[in-house]
Amino acid sequence: MHRRQFLATSGLAGLSLLGGLSLGRQARAEPLALTIQNARYALEATPTEGMVSLSPDAPPPVLRLSRGQPFRAEVLNTLDAYTSMHWHGLRLPNVMDGVPYLTQVPLGQGDRYVYDFTPQDAGTFWYHPHCTTMEQMAKGLTGLLIVEDERDPRFDLDLPVNLRDWRLGEDSQFIDLYTARGAARNGTFGTLMTANWASEPVYDVPAGGLVRFRLAATDTTRVYRLQMPGAEGRVIALDGHPVIDPVLWPGPEAPLVLGCGQRVDLAIRAPGQEGAELVLQNDQPGGPRVLLRLRAVGADLRHDLGDLAPLAANPLPEPDLAQAEVLDFVFGWSPSDAPVNDGFCGSLGYTFWSINRVAWPGDASGTGPLAELRLGQTYILRLRNESPNDHPIHLHGMVFKPLRSNRREVSGNWVDTAMLLAEETMEVALVADNPGDWAFHCHVIEHQKTGLTAYLRVA
Ligand code: C2O
Ligand code: CU
Ligand code: CU
Repeated sequence: MHRRQFLATSGLAGLSLLGGLSLGRQARAEPLALTIQNARYALEATPTEGMVSLSPDAPPPVLRLSRGQPFRAEVLNTLDAYTSMHWHGLRLPNVMDGVPYLTQVPLGQGDRYVYDFTPQDAGTFWYHPHCTTMEQMAKGLTGLLIVEDERDPRFDLDLPVNLRDWRLGEDSQFIDLYTARGAARNGTFGTLMTANWASEPVYDVPAGGLVRFRLAATDTTRVYRLQMPGAEGRVIALDGHPVIDPVLWPGPEAPLVLGCGQRVDLAIRAPGQEGAELVLQNDQPGGPRVLLRLRAVGADLRHDLGDLAPLAANPLPEPDLAQAEVLDFVFGWSPSDAPVNDGFCGSLGYTFWSINRVAWPGDASGTGPLAELRLGQTYILRLRNESPNDHPIHLHGMVFKPLRSNRREVSGNWVDTAMLLAEETMEVALVADNPGDWAFHCHVIEHQKTGLTAYLRVA
């Protein structure tokens, strides 16, 4: 198939940078200015106005922060729609979390908000609006955020990969971003799969070198099942946090499941022979689909995976399981009389889903917290999916450890998003160590926007 090197760019992504600031290292004093705006997009010969540009440029900038160093971003909304910015996976003060009605007012046109926090954890994270999300995320406002640590082991190459789809028609213009049918099932899938806004890109990697491959699933719908046949690699982090016992990847048969919002860091040894390729593919009905290729260039560096030092642990609070309290959550259909989500932050016009039979109304009236957690206490959240659909369940502000599932072995690594398969019950443990109101929702955005949202209060 002809390789089509197009797709949305940063200006396009409706997000542009002002003030000539360098993204590499945020100057401590000078905030990063993020302007959310309508940008022109031009794909091939058909320029159109829209929030996202489609061109052979780049995704929203990869923000690189340093662990323990203050970060500041002033977000200016020049869109004709409400928005807010959320820093997915970062443990930060509640007021910096970017959730409309819960932690801030939605930003109207011309409004600014200064986000100001110091990342405590190193790893691969991401950022996206938390208001009018269906449209803004589907049109490209999904960027990667990497927190570096001076203790990070040295790789020959650090390669962030933003995986997502686009719902484009034959003319490369956006088509309906969701459908009622999709929202009530597994979501409405894109028509074009991309890695870093390109279709089947090829990345040069140093032959025989060690690559830190940071994969983030920022799509609004797709759950990836990833394989890289023949690769010599290890899973070294999940949702940014180091894996205690780096596992070999890919496993002989099981693909790596990466749900909406999740990230995985892999240490990959590039093939030693110049020109040799490794292919990252998604297993899907109809056969594997190529996402990208790594091509070895240069003389064989002869580096070895075994030489890599482990990632330094993040300072996470260990659950005290002996003292844990259990909280039950059921994810399923909404009651028939549930209100339709009708806030400033964009409604899909339907309500299909609920947590504990309550559908999030999405406006200022909200609902009360779904549960109140005592600061410092360990909890086991028993997450029960009573639907035949998969739900990547995400909690803001804190991370948790899967303990067990009725359907499979789970790894007890820290994550911020639990991939809850159809009819699965999973227990996860956390310490409620971050005070505030923390959003708790499915990251399939159509589910989130049609009821599968709530919040937990920690006080
Ligand atoms: Cu990635 Cu509530 O979000
Ligand atoms: Cu989040
Ligand atoms: Cu869901």
